[in-house]
Formats: sequence, structure tokens, C-alpha cells
Amino acid sequence: MATLYSTHCRSFAYSPSSPSSSSSSSSNIACLQRVTFSQRFLAAKASLKSQSQSLQVPLNTQQQDGAVAAAVTPVENGTSHEQLKAELLCVRSPEESKGIAGFEKDENESTVSITVVGASGDLAKKKIFPALFALYYEDCLPKHFTIYGYARSKMTDAELRNMVSKTLTCRIDKRENCSEKMDQFLKRCFYHSGQYDSQENFAVLDKKLKEHEGGRTSNRLFYLSIPPNIFIDAVKCASLSASSGNGWTRVIVEKPFGRDSESSAALTRSLKQYLTEDQIFRIDHYLGKELVENLSVLRFSNLIFEPLWSRQYIRNVQLIFSEDFGTEGRGGYFDHYGIIRDIMQNHLLQILALFAMETPVSLDAEDIRNEKVKVLRSMRPLQLEDVVVGQYKSHTRGGVTYPAYVDDKTVPDGSLTPTFAAAALFIDNARWDGVPFLMKAGKALHNKRAEIRVQFRHVPGNLYNRNFGADLDRATNELVIRVQPDEAIYLKINNKVPGLGMKLDRSNLNLHYAARYSNEIPDAYERLLLDAIEGERRLFIRSDELDAAWSLFTPVLKELEEKKIIPEYYPYGSRGPVGAHYLAARYNVRWGDLGTDIDH
Ligand code: BG6
Repeated sequence: MATLYSTHCRSFAYSPSSPSSSSSSSSNIACLQRVTFSQRFLAAKASLKSQSQSLQVPLNTQQQDGAVAAAVTPVENGTSHEQLKAELLCVRSPEESKGIAGFEKDENESTVSITVVGASGDLAKKKIFPALFALYYEDCLPKHFTIYGYARSKMTDAELRNMVSKTLTCRIDKRENCSEKMDQFLKRCFYHSGQYDSQENFAVLDKKLKEHEGGRTSNRLFYLSIPPNIFIDAVKCASLSASSGNGWTRVIVEKPFGRDSESSAALTRSLKQYLTEDQIFRIDHYLGKELVENLSVLRFSNLIFEPLWSRQYIRNVQLIFSEDFGTEGRGGYFDHYGIIRDIMQNHLLQILALFAMETPVSLDAEDIRNEKVKVLRSMRPLQLEDVVVGQYKSHTRGGVTYPAYVDDKTVPDGSLTPTFAAAALFIDNARWDGVPFLMKAGKALHNKRAEIRVQFRHVPGNLYNRNFGADLDRATNELVIRVQPDEAIYLKINNKVPGLGMKLDRSNLNLHYAARYSNEIPDAYERLLLDAIEGERRLFIRSDELDAAWSLFTPVLKELEEKKIIPEYYPYGSRGPVGAHYLAARYNVRWGDLGTDIDH
């Protein structure tokens, strides 16, 4: 095997038989075996940059990332310039680092406190605590860390631990010492009961955090897993009463980031009263999904894709999201937003931006986000006639009756909120001029799936045209990136069926993850939490990206609501409204997910 991805958090290793390691002198092997991947590399680079900046700022002033410069160790860690430079050249594993004076000192002197605000909510229970445990299980959390659950309900530490333990699972590919690791992890979890708008309650939390931090450089991460109407109160209190005094303070916020351009801008303005942009980590968990993260690797590190990545060879791109369940219990939230705000304006649009961006100058977060923002700003304003909306209705199948959206008790009667939408978008730049980017997102459909489909143009003057009959579209190549479930990347090609005749068929060149890789795919929240702890912003949304995303969708959302457009009703569990086909047909597109794919 030539290369092998290490299961360790942020590095990839060459197997001993790989040419690069075998040809190296033994003293360099430790370095060569751990080649930096972007985050560790960039984190070290960023620290170096911020260290050199911080050396010039007067002490006790507010710095980037909210760190108030302390007398002795003013930045994210206490390593010297020389150590950081060395780290740029060779990133070591924690084991390799043991015994290196600076590393040990740094590890012992700094601590990370993670406060999950809204700890008793669904997201915290189902995603955040399990992701933190997975990071701990993989040895990706720093040596000194403490986790606090913060919520209004009264709960003891033991009760929190009990609640959290119910959703923790061990990696199926490992499982060793699982219950031992769980116990160790739970011992690091604590609970603090408080109001979200009480500076006093956050001040008590601050005291408790300090006790755990034991005088080390304190770095603090707040995860706001609470409804948007209390975001600002919680940010204000956390920032004023529980910010770190000598390390960084960062806040992760989950969508919805407003309902339209105005409310989103107002939210950003309010957040920025208490935090700098560098402290705000706006999460879009789709960016943390393995295959979305892989998009840039696929494109920029394989010669065969990048030259094809434009209007010259690509006929259309499809971004498809479907769920086979309805809003079940979330109708109250959902009805205020609808599928366009819930999925398209963020998850699908972020994938589109990554897919379509120009080559960034580097893998640095700002370089990538600059390119994404350019794509968003080059997009043609979305027209109402390029949008189809739908809503699921009740359907009985096999003796089971599935409810309509409006049957949800938390949904107002007669609601017109779309649970399905399809849209045709265009990027008016040199690379993508005229190429339709079709999005489709829906709940209560026939399957659960998220995928990107790239349909290529016809082969000009194809010698084999007569073998395909009248339907030439069926003979074009299609690249499918299946984000979930059962991750895969496959390319549909035309192939000769073995035999004496000349019969062609459609076959797949298939990279099926479960068959190729034995390790479990991390949950998106694991990657994003680790990035936030490391200060890596590449997968988080910058405020100008958010503005551009809202500018694209706000006018059409307003029009839909003002004109009270009636959604097309589709049966629960169906393939969605037929209007989506007419929309695609208008741009000579056929939805790729409706054909029969042979993907194994
Ligand atoms: C969330 C939406 O952002 O993403 C939900 O609010 C949706 O409506 C969810 O169900 C889907 O996420 P995943 O990771 O399960 O595909």
C-alpha cells in the first residue's frame, strides 16, 4: 500500500514501505512520517502570525480572538517563535512530542473549557456531547480540558453525566477500552444551571471554570445550542462575565442566522457588539461532512477533474437533499423558516460555492473563503419562475397512514411553508456562464440522501452514437458524489459489454467508501469542534459569505411569502412535486437521482 491515512486527528502518515520514508535518513523519519495536513500546518502558521502580532500590542489590550493580553503569556499558547517555526517544518504526534520541553510546558500551561449552552437540548444530546466524546476517544482533545453543560433546568453533575452517557458510542472500528474511556470522559463533564440572560449566572460559571483551569492559560469555547431569540443574551453574558482573561474565547453559533438579509445583518451587528468576527464560528455542519471536505481534494489534486470543471465540459450540476421523514415534532421551528432557509440557503449553497470556486491561493481559511464569496457574489439573482415549492400531504401506504405537514400539531392550520423546493441557479462568471446549477431539497420524500451530480456534455461527433438510440442524454458521463448515506464517488461511463458483438452499456467507476476504507467516517460535528478548538476557520461561515447567501435568496423568499404562493402538494414518501421536472426540463436537464444507478 502506498499511502495510508492515519486514524490520528490531524496528520497523514506514509507507511514504512512508501518511497518517501524509506529513502530518508532515520533522523528525519519522525518528521517525514507525519507530513502536515492543512489544519495543523495552518494552525501553527496562524499562531506564529498572531504571536508576532501580539508581541507588538501593549499588554492588557483586547486582541484578535478575544484574548486579553496577559503579562506573561499573551497568545494562544506559550510556545516560542523557534518552536513554532520548528512545528511548521515537522508536526509531531503527542507521543513524539513528549519529552520536548516546550511542548510539555505548553500542554501543562494551557487548558480548554468547552461550555455547551443549551445542554439539555436535542442537538447537544445527539450531536455535541457524542462528538466531544469521539474526539476524546481519538485523543484529539488537549490534555487539560473541561466540559460544562449550561442550561436552565436544575441538574446535578451526576444527572448530566447520566443524560450524556446515553448517547455516547465508541468507534465501531476500535471499541477497545470503551467503557473505561467513557468513564474518564464523563468525569470531565460538569453541569451549571443558569439563565441565558443572567450575567450573574455566567459569572458563577466563570468562577467554576477558573477552579478547573487551575491558573493555566485558559481558552474557552462556548457552543450555543439554543434558539436564535436568546443568542444575543447568552453571547452578551458569556462574553462579559465568562470570557477568558488570558487565552482565547470563541463562540460557535448554529443556524438559523436570521430569516433574511435584514435580520441576519442585525444578528451579526448584535453579535459584534460583544465579539470580534474572529471569535464567531458560524457552523454549517454540511461543511464538516467527509465528502464535502473531500471536494477540494478531488478537484485540486487530481489532474483529470480540474480541466473538465467548467462550462466547456459540464452541462449541469445538481445538488440534491432528501429526507424520508417529515418535520415530526420540529414543525414549530420549521414553519418559521421552510426548506429554502433550512437547507438551500446554507447547506446546498455552501456546497455549491466550494464546488464552483476558483483555485484558492492556499488552503488558508481566508483564501478559501475569499473564493467562495466570489462565487456567491457572481450568482444571478434568483427569479420566482426558477423556483418550485411543495408541501407534503398525508398518504396511506401498506395500511399505514403518514401525516401531512399541517397535521403536525406545532404547525399552524393552512400553513403554506414549503417542505420541498427546487431551484435553478446560475453563476455569471467566465467559468460557469450558462451552466444550470439545480438544487432540490425536500422532507418526507421516498429516500434519505444528499448528493452532488455533475452531468457532462455529449461527446462531439461520437462514433458510437448509433449504439445509444435516440436518447443521447443517457450516454453522457455523470460524476456522482454521494455525501450520505453510504458515502461514494462514482463516475458513469460507457463501456463495451464483453463479447463478439458491439453492445455498449453504462457502468460505474466506483469509489465506495465502505469497501475501500475500514475506518469509520467521523461525524461532521467532530471535525468542526476540533477545528474550532484549533482556531481553524476554513469550514465556518464568514459574515460576508452569509450576507451574499442571504442576498441571493431574500428577494425570492419575500416574493413567495407576499404573493402567498401555494405549494404543490406531494404525497408523503413520494418523489416530490412534478413541477421540479418541468423546471429541470426548461433547462434541458433531467434529474439524475430519478434514473436507476448501478452504484456498487
Ligand atoms: C439541519 C436541518 O440543518 O440539517 C434539518 O435544520 C435537517 O431540518 C438536518 O434534518 C439534516 O442534517 P443531516 O446531517 O442529518 O443530513
